Amino acid sequence: MASGSATASSSKGPARTATSSTPNYELPWVEKYRPSLLEDIVGNSETVERLKIIAKDGNMPHVIISGMPGIGKTTSILCLARALLGDTYKEAVLELNASDERGIDVVRNRIKAFAQKKVTLPAGRQKIIILDEADSMTNGAQQALRRTMEIYSSTTRFAFACNQSNKIIEPLQSRCAILRYSRLSNDEVTKRLIEIIKMEDVEYSEDGLAALIFTAEGDMRQAINNLQSTVAGFGFVSGDNVFKVVDTPHPIAVQTLIKACYEGKIDDALERLEELWDKGYSAVDVISTMFRVTKTVDTLSEHSKLEFIKEIGFTHMRILEGVSTLLQLKGCIARLCKINMPPALYAMK
Ligand SMILES: Nc1ncnc2c1ncn2[C@@H]1O[C@H](COP(=O)(O)OP(=O)(O)OP(=O)(O)O)[C@@H](O)[C@H]1O
Ligand SMILES: [Mg+2]
Repeated sequence: MASGSATASSSKGPARTATSSTPNYELPWVEKYRPSLLEDIVGNSETVERLKIIAKDGNMPHVIISGMPGIGKTTSILCLARALLGDTYKEAVLELNASDERGIDVVRNRIKAFAQKKVTLPAGRQKIIILDEADSMTNGAQQALRRTMEIYSSTTRFAFACNQSNKIIEPLQSRCAILRYSRLSNDEVTKRLIEIIKMEDVEYSEDGLAALIFTAEGDMRQAINNLQSTVAGFGFVSGDNVFKVVDTPHPIAVQTLIKACYEGKIDDALERLEELWDKGYSAVDVISTMFRVTKTVDTLSEHSKLEFIKEIGFTHMRILEGVSTLLQLKGCIARLCKINMPPALYAMK
Protein backbone atom coordinates (compact mmCIF):
# COMPACT_ATOMS: atom_id res chain seq x y z
CA MET A 1 0.00 0.00 0.00
CA ALA A 2 3.07 2.18 0.03
CA SER A 3 2.27 3.46 -3.42
CA GLY A 4 -1.31 4.42 -2.76
CA SER A 5 -0.72 6.16 0.51
CA ALA A 6 2.35 7.96 -0.75
CA THR A 7 0.55 9.49 -3.68
CA ALA A 8 -2.59 9.95 -1.65
CA SER A 9 -0.97 12.25 0.83
CA SER A 10 0.37 14.51 -1.89
CA SER A 11 -2.89 15.25 -3.67
CA LYS A 12 -5.55 14.34 -1.15
CA GLY A 13 -5.53 17.50 0.92
CA PRO A 14 -6.36 20.15 -1.66
CA ALA A 15 -8.87 18.02 -3.51
CA ARG A 16 -11.06 17.12 -0.59
CA THR A 17 -10.86 20.35 1.31
CA ALA A 18 -11.46 22.42 -1.82
CA THR A 19 -13.30 25.62 -1.20
CA SER A 20 -14.93 27.73 -3.86
CA SER A 21 -11.72 29.73 -4.30
CA THR A 22 -9.45 26.72 -5.00
CA PRO A 23 -9.92 24.78 -8.22
CA ASN A 24 -11.69 21.51 -7.53
CA TYR A 25 -9.18 19.46 -9.45
CA GLU A 26 -8.73 15.86 -8.58
CA LEU A 27 -6.64 13.17 -10.21
CA PRO A 28 -8.71 10.18 -11.39
CA TRP A 29 -8.47 7.64 -8.62
CA VAL A 30 -7.55 4.89 -11.07
CA GLU A 31 -4.31 6.79 -11.72
CA LYS A 32 -3.82 8.02 -8.20
CA TYR A 33 -4.03 4.47 -6.89
CA ARG A 34 -2.30 2.69 -9.75
CA PRO A 35 0.10 0.35 -7.94
CA SER A 36 3.76 1.10 -8.59
CA LEU A 37 5.11 -2.05 -6.97
CA LEU A 38 4.36 -5.62 -7.99
CA GLU A 39 3.46 -6.38 -4.34
CA ASP A 40 0.54 -3.97 -4.53
CA ILE A 41 -1.14 -5.66 -7.49
CA VAL A 42 -4.29 -7.42 -6.40
CA GLY A 43 -5.29 -10.87 -7.64
CA ASN A 44 -3.77 -13.28 -10.17
CA SER A 45 -1.30 -14.10 -7.45
CA GLU A 46 0.41 -16.99 -9.20
CA THR A 47 1.20 -14.95 -12.27
CA VAL A 48 2.26 -11.94 -10.24
CA GLU A 49 4.55 -14.24 -8.23
CA ARG A 50 6.22 -15.27 -11.49
CA LEU A 51 6.73 -11.64 -12.38
CA LYS A 52 8.28 -11.02 -8.97
CA ILE A 53 10.75 -13.84 -9.55
CA ILE A 54 11.62 -12.37 -12.95
CA ALA A 55 12.09 -8.96 -11.32
CA LYS A 56 14.47 -10.50 -8.79
CA ASP A 57 16.50 -12.66 -11.17
CA GLY A 58 16.60 -10.07 -13.87
CA ASN A 59 16.53 -12.23 -16.96
CA MET A 60 13.18 -11.19 -18.35
CA PRO A 61 11.82 -13.32 -21.19
CA HIS A 62 9.67 -11.75 -23.88
CA VAL A 63 6.19 -11.79 -22.36
CA ILE A 64 2.58 -11.44 -23.43
CA ILE A 65 0.03 -10.61 -20.74
CA SER A 66 -3.52 -11.13 -21.89
CA GLY A 67 -6.89 -10.73 -20.22
CA MET A 68 -10.03 -8.61 -19.99
CA PRO A 69 -9.87 -4.81 -19.47
CA GLY A 70 -9.08 -3.18 -16.14
CA ILE A 71 -7.45 -6.05 -14.27
CA GLY A 72 -3.88 -4.83 -14.07
CA LYS A 73 -2.05 -5.88 -17.25
CA THR A 74 -0.51 -2.52 -18.12
CA THR A 75 0.13 -1.86 -14.44
CA SER A 76 1.96 -5.18 -14.04
CA ILE A 77 4.23 -4.54 -17.00
CA LEU A 78 5.06 -1.03 -15.79
CA CYS A 79 5.78 -2.33 -12.27
CA LEU A 80 7.97 -5.08 -13.67
CA ALA A 81 9.93 -2.65 -15.82
CA ARG A 82 10.37 -0.32 -12.87
CA ALA A 83 11.50 -3.15 -10.60
CA LEU A 84 14.01 -4.33 -13.19
CA LEU A 85 15.43 -1.03 -14.28
CA GLY A 86 15.01 1.34 -11.36
CA ASP A 87 16.59 4.71 -12.11
CA THR A 88 17.45 3.81 -15.69
CA TYR A 89 13.75 3.32 -16.48
CA LYS A 90 13.54 6.54 -18.46
CA GLU A 91 16.28 5.71 -20.96
CA ALA A 92 15.81 1.96 -21.02
CA VAL A 93 12.08 1.63 -21.63
CA LEU A 94 10.21 2.39 -24.82
CA GLU A 95 6.47 2.39 -24.26
CA LEU A 96 4.12 2.35 -27.21
CA ASN A 97 0.37 1.95 -26.93
CA ALA A 98 -2.57 2.00 -29.28
CA SER A 99 -2.58 5.80 -29.30
CA ASP A 100 0.83 5.77 -30.99
CA GLU A 101 1.31 4.97 -34.63
CA ARG A 102 2.50 1.38 -34.65
CA GLY A 103 2.48 0.44 -38.29
CA ILE A 104 5.29 -1.27 -40.04
CA ASP A 105 7.30 1.97 -40.38
CA VAL A 106 7.42 2.46 -36.63
CA VAL A 107 8.68 -1.08 -36.19
CA ARG A 108 11.32 -0.46 -38.86
CA ASN A 109 12.40 2.90 -37.52
CA ARG A 110 11.57 3.64 -33.89
CA ILE A 111 11.59 0.17 -32.43
CA LYS A 112 14.70 -0.88 -34.31
CA ALA A 113 16.52 2.34 -33.45
CA PHE A 114 15.67 1.87 -29.78
CA ALA A 115 16.82 -1.74 -29.88
CA GLN A 116 20.16 -0.63 -31.36
CA LYS A 117 20.60 2.20 -28.86
CA LYS A 118 23.34 1.75 -26.29
CA VAL A 119 22.30 2.37 -22.70
CA THR A 120 24.27 1.67 -19.54
CA LEU A 121 22.18 -0.67 -17.45
CA PRO A 122 22.50 -2.47 -14.14
CA ALA A 123 24.32 -5.80 -14.58
CA GLY A 124 22.23 -8.53 -16.16
CA ARG A 125 19.39 -6.22 -17.22
CA GLN A 126 18.02 -5.52 -20.69
CA LYS A 127 16.17 -2.66 -22.28
CA ILE A 128 12.42 -3.20 -22.42
CA ILE A 129 10.02 -2.36 -25.21
CA ILE A 130 6.44 -2.27 -23.98
CA LEU A 131 3.80 -2.72 -26.62
CA ASP A 132 0.53 -2.07 -24.85
CA GLU A 133 -2.82 -2.96 -26.45
CA ALA A 134 -0.82 -5.08 -28.87
CA ASP A 135 -3.93 -6.74 -30.29
CA SER A 136 -4.56 -3.57 -32.27
CA MET A 137 -1.21 -3.77 -34.07
CA THR A 138 -1.49 -4.57 -37.73
CA ASN A 139 -0.49 -7.95 -38.98
CA GLY A 140 2.31 -6.45 -41.04
CA ALA A 141 3.80 -4.65 -38.05
CA GLN A 142 3.69 -7.84 -36.02
CA GLN A 143 5.39 -9.75 -38.82
CA ALA A 144 8.09 -7.10 -38.97
CA LEU A 145 8.84 -7.65 -35.29
CA ARG A 146 9.74 -11.31 -35.70
CA ARG A 147 13.33 -10.96 -36.74
CA THR A 148 13.92 -7.78 -34.71
CA MET A 149 12.95 -9.63 -31.54
CA GLU A 150 15.53 -12.29 -32.29
CA ILE A 151 18.42 -10.13 -33.46
CA TYR A 152 18.36 -7.79 -30.48
CA SER A 153 17.22 -10.25 -27.85
CA SER A 154 20.53 -10.10 -26.00
CA THR A 155 19.98 -6.43 -25.18
CA THR A 156 16.25 -5.83 -25.58
CA ARG A 157 13.18 -7.67 -24.33
CA PHE A 158 9.58 -7.18 -25.39
CA ALA A 159 6.48 -7.04 -23.22
CA PHE A 160 3.07 -7.14 -24.87
CA ALA A 161 -0.27 -6.50 -23.19
CA CYS A 162 -3.49 -7.36 -24.96
CA ASN A 163 -7.10 -8.30 -24.38
CA GLN A 164 -7.14 -11.18 -26.83
CA SER A 165 -3.93 -13.15 -27.23
CA ASN A 166 -5.26 -14.77 -30.40
CA LYS A 167 -4.92 -11.42 -32.15
CA ILE A 168 -1.16 -11.75 -31.74
CA ILE A 169 0.29 -13.74 -34.60
CA GLU A 170 1.49 -17.24 -33.80
CA PRO A 171 5.20 -16.61 -34.46
CA LEU A 172 5.24 -13.83 -31.86
CA GLN A 173 3.33 -16.00 -29.39
CA SER A 174 5.92 -18.72 -29.83
CA ARG A 175 8.71 -16.28 -28.96
CA CYS A 176 7.05 -15.19 -25.70
CA ALA A 177 6.01 -16.50 -22.32
CA ILE A 178 2.23 -16.07 -22.30
CA LEU A 179 0.70 -15.00 -19.00
CA ARG A 180 -3.08 -15.00 -18.77
CA TYR A 181 -4.78 -12.74 -16.27
CA SER A 182 -8.22 -13.74 -15.16
CA ARG A 183 -11.03 -11.49 -14.01
CA LEU A 184 -10.59 -10.40 -10.40
CA SER A 185 -12.75 -12.05 -7.77
CA ASN A 186 -15.32 -10.04 -5.86
CA ASP A 187 -13.26 -10.37 -2.69
CA GLU A 188 -10.18 -8.98 -4.40
CA VAL A 189 -12.05 -5.98 -5.78
CA THR A 190 -13.73 -5.42 -2.41
CA LYS A 191 -10.41 -5.45 -0.59
CA ARG A 192 -8.88 -2.84 -2.86
CA LEU A 193 -12.00 -0.66 -2.84
CA ILE A 194 -12.06 -0.62 0.94
CA GLU A 195 -8.42 0.47 0.98
CA ILE A 196 -9.22 3.35 -1.34
CA ILE A 197 -12.38 4.22 0.59
CA LYS A 198 -10.30 4.45 3.78
CA MET A 199 -7.60 6.58 2.16
CA GLU A 200 -10.16 8.94 0.64
CA ASP A 201 -12.29 9.01 3.75
CA VAL A 202 -15.41 8.09 1.83
CA GLU A 203 -18.73 7.55 3.54
CA TYR A 204 -20.37 4.37 2.34
CA SER A 205 -22.91 1.73 3.20
CA GLU A 206 -22.55 -2.02 2.77
CA ASP A 207 -25.12 -2.11 -0.03
CA GLY A 208 -23.20 0.67 -1.80
CA LEU A 209 -20.08 -1.43 -1.75
CA ALA A 210 -22.04 -4.47 -2.93
CA ALA A 211 -23.48 -2.40 -5.79
CA LEU A 212 -20.00 -1.34 -6.91
CA ILE A 213 -18.86 -4.95 -6.94
CA PHE A 214 -21.99 -6.10 -8.77
CA THR A 215 -21.65 -3.52 -11.52
CA ALA A 216 -17.89 -3.89 -11.97
CA GLU A 217 -17.96 -7.62 -12.74
CA GLY A 218 -14.33 -8.15 -11.81
CA ASP A 219 -13.04 -5.05 -13.60
CA MET A 220 -11.03 -3.06 -11.05
CA ARG A 221 -10.82 0.05 -13.19
CA GLN A 222 -14.59 0.22 -13.52
CA ALA A 223 -15.08 -0.36 -9.79
CA ILE A 224 -12.72 2.48 -8.88
CA ASN A 225 -14.17 4.82 -11.50
CA ASN A 226 -17.72 4.14 -10.35
CA LEU A 227 -16.68 4.72 -6.76
CA GLN A 228 -15.18 8.08 -7.65
CA SER A 229 -18.16 9.14 -9.78
CA THR A 230 -20.57 8.23 -7.01
CA VAL A 231 -18.57 10.22 -4.47
CA ALA A 232 -18.31 13.17 -6.86
CA GLY A 233 -22.03 13.07 -7.67
CA PHE A 234 -23.61 12.25 -4.32
CA GLY A 235 -20.97 12.35 -1.60
CA PHE A 236 -22.27 9.10 -0.19
CA VAL A 237 -21.88 5.60 -1.62
CA SER A 238 -25.21 3.83 -1.24
CA GLY A 239 -26.67 1.18 -3.51
CA ASP A 240 -29.20 3.60 -5.01
CA ASN A 241 -26.57 6.24 -5.73
CA VAL A 242 -24.26 3.75 -7.40
CA PHE A 243 -27.01 2.48 -9.69
CA LYS A 244 -27.96 6.04 -10.57
CA VAL A 245 -24.38 6.80 -11.56
CA VAL A 246 -23.85 3.57 -13.46
CA ASP A 247 -27.26 3.96 -15.04
CA THR A 248 -28.24 0.32 -15.11
CA PRO A 249 -31.51 -1.11 -13.78
CA HIS A 250 -31.50 -1.66 -10.04
CA PRO A 251 -30.94 -5.38 -9.42
CA ILE A 252 -33.55 -5.39 -6.66
CA ALA A 253 -36.19 -4.30 -9.20
CA VAL A 254 -34.97 -6.94 -11.61
CA GLN A 255 -34.95 -9.51 -8.87
CA THR A 256 -38.66 -8.89 -8.18
CA LEU A 257 -39.26 -9.31 -11.89
CA ILE A 258 -37.40 -12.64 -11.96
CA LYS A 259 -39.24 -13.80 -8.82
CA ALA A 260 -42.61 -12.99 -10.38
CA CYS A 261 -41.59 -15.04 -13.43
CA TYR A 262 -40.51 -17.91 -11.19
CA GLU A 263 -43.90 -17.89 -9.49
CA GLY A 264 -45.66 -17.72 -12.83
CA LYS A 265 -47.25 -14.32 -12.10
CA ILE A 266 -47.18 -12.99 -15.61
CA ASP A 267 -49.22 -9.81 -15.00
CA ASP A 268 -46.98 -8.84 -12.14
CA ALA A 269 -43.86 -9.54 -14.13
CA LEU A 270 -45.03 -7.54 -17.13
CA GLU A 271 -45.87 -4.61 -14.91
CA ARG A 272 -42.37 -4.65 -13.42
CA LEU A 273 -40.87 -4.85 -16.88
CA GLU A 274 -42.89 -1.87 -18.08
CA GLU A 275 -41.77 0.14 -15.07
CA LEU A 276 -38.15 -0.48 -16.04
CA TRP A 277 -38.84 0.29 -19.69
CA ASP A 278 -40.55 3.56 -18.78
CA LYS A 279 -37.46 4.62 -16.85
CA GLY A 280 -35.68 4.57 -20.19
CA TYR A 281 -33.47 1.51 -19.87
CA SER A 282 -32.63 -0.17 -23.14
CA ALA A 283 -33.43 -3.78 -23.92
CA VAL A 284 -29.74 -4.71 -23.60
CA ASP A 285 -29.52 -3.06 -20.16
CA VAL A 286 -32.57 -4.96 -18.97
CA ILE A 287 -31.64 -8.34 -20.38
CA SER A 288 -28.02 -8.24 -19.20
CA THR A 289 -29.07 -7.26 -15.68
CA MET A 290 -31.65 -10.07 -15.80
CA PHE A 291 -28.84 -12.47 -16.61
CA ARG A 292 -26.60 -11.27 -13.80
CA VAL A 293 -29.40 -11.27 -11.26
CA THR A 294 -30.57 -14.76 -12.24
CA LYS A 295 -27.02 -16.01 -11.89
CA THR A 296 -26.73 -14.73 -8.33
CA VAL A 297 -30.24 -15.15 -6.93
CA ASP A 298 -30.38 -18.11 -4.55
CA THR A 299 -34.10 -18.66 -4.22
CA LEU A 300 -34.34 -20.26 -7.67
CA SER A 301 -34.00 -24.02 -8.01
CA GLU A 302 -31.01 -25.26 -9.99
CA HIS A 303 -33.24 -26.45 -12.83
CA SER A 304 -35.12 -23.15 -13.11
CA LYS A 305 -31.89 -21.20 -13.01
CA LEU A 306 -30.52 -23.13 -15.96
CA GLU A 307 -33.74 -22.82 -17.94
CA PHE A 308 -33.99 -19.10 -17.14
CA ILE A 309 -30.42 -18.46 -18.23
CA LYS A 310 -31.04 -20.37 -21.46
CA GLU A 311 -34.11 -18.28 -22.33
CA ILE A 312 -32.43 -15.03 -21.31
CA GLY A 313 -29.43 -15.99 -23.41
CA PHE A 314 -31.55 -16.56 -26.51
CA THR A 315 -33.31 -13.25 -26.01
CA HIS A 316 -30.00 -11.47 -25.53
CA MET A 317 -28.86 -12.89 -28.83
CA ARG A 318 -31.98 -11.68 -30.65
CA ILE A 319 -31.61 -8.23 -29.10
CA LEU A 320 -28.01 -8.03 -30.24
CA GLU A 321 -29.12 -9.05 -33.70
CA GLY A 322 -31.15 -5.83 -33.72
CA VAL A 323 -34.66 -6.60 -32.46
CA SER A 324 -34.48 -4.63 -29.25
CA THR A 325 -38.15 -3.92 -28.67
CA LEU A 326 -40.31 -4.10 -25.58
CA LEU A 327 -42.21 -6.90 -27.28
CA GLN A 328 -39.02 -8.95 -27.44
CA LEU A 329 -38.58 -8.60 -23.67
CA LYS A 330 -42.23 -9.37 -23.03
CA GLY A 331 -41.87 -12.54 -25.08
CA CYS A 332 -38.94 -13.53 -22.92
CA ILE A 333 -40.91 -12.85 -19.73
CA ALA A 334 -43.79 -14.99 -21.03
CA ARG A 335 -41.45 -17.89 -21.74
CA LEU A 336 -39.86 -17.54 -18.31
CA CYS A 337 -43.26 -17.62 -16.62
CA LYS A 338 -44.12 -20.78 -18.53
CA ILE A 339 -41.07 -22.68 -17.22
CA ASN A 340 -42.51 -23.32 -13.76
CA MET A 341 -46.18 -23.43 -14.62
CA PRO A 342 -47.85 -26.81 -14.07
CA PRO A 343 -48.62 -28.23 -17.55
CA ALA A 344 -52.38 -28.35 -16.88
CA LEU A 345 -52.45 -24.69 -16.04
CA TYR A 346 -50.72 -23.55 -19.14
CA ALA A 347 -52.73 -25.84 -21.36
CA MET A 348 -55.77 -23.93 -20.12
CA LYS A 349 -54.26 -20.50 -20.73
N1 LIG B 1 -4.92 -5.99 -10.08
C1 LIG B 1 -5.04 -4.72 -9.74
N2 LIG B 1 -4.63 -4.27 -8.53
C2 LIG B 1 -4.77 -2.98 -8.17
N3 LIG B 1 -5.28 -2.03 -8.98
C3 LIG B 1 -5.70 -2.40 -10.19
C4 LIG B 1 -5.59 -3.76 -10.63
N4 LIG B 1 -6.09 -3.84 -11.87
C5 LIG B 1 -6.48 -2.61 -12.22
N5 LIG B 1 -6.26 -1.74 -11.21
C6 LIG B 1 -6.62 -0.32 -11.25
O1 LIG B 1 -7.21 -0.07 -12.51
C7 LIG B 1 -6.41 0.82 -13.29
C8 LIG B 1 -6.26 0.27 -14.69
O2 LIG B 1 -5.48 -0.89 -14.71
P1 LIG B 1 -4.60 -1.32 -15.98
O3 LIG B 1 -4.27 -0.10 -16.79
O4 LIG B 1 -3.47 -2.14 -15.51
O5 LIG B 1 -5.65 -2.19 -16.77
P2 LIG B 1 -5.40 -3.14 -18.02
O6 LIG B 1 -5.51 -4.56 -17.54
O7 LIG B 1 -4.14 -2.75 -18.71
O8 LIG B 1 -6.68 -2.81 -18.90
P3 LIG B 1 -6.83 -2.58 -20.49
O9 LIG B 1 -6.95 -3.95 -21.09
O10 LIG B 1 -8.09 -1.82 -20.62
O11 LIG B 1 -5.62 -1.84 -20.94
C9 LIG B 1 -5.09 0.95 -12.55
O12 LIG B 1 -4.64 2.28 -12.64
C10 LIG B 1 -5.42 0.60 -11.12
O13 LIG B 1 -5.85 1.74 -10.44
MG1 LIG C 1 -3.81 -1.62 -20.45
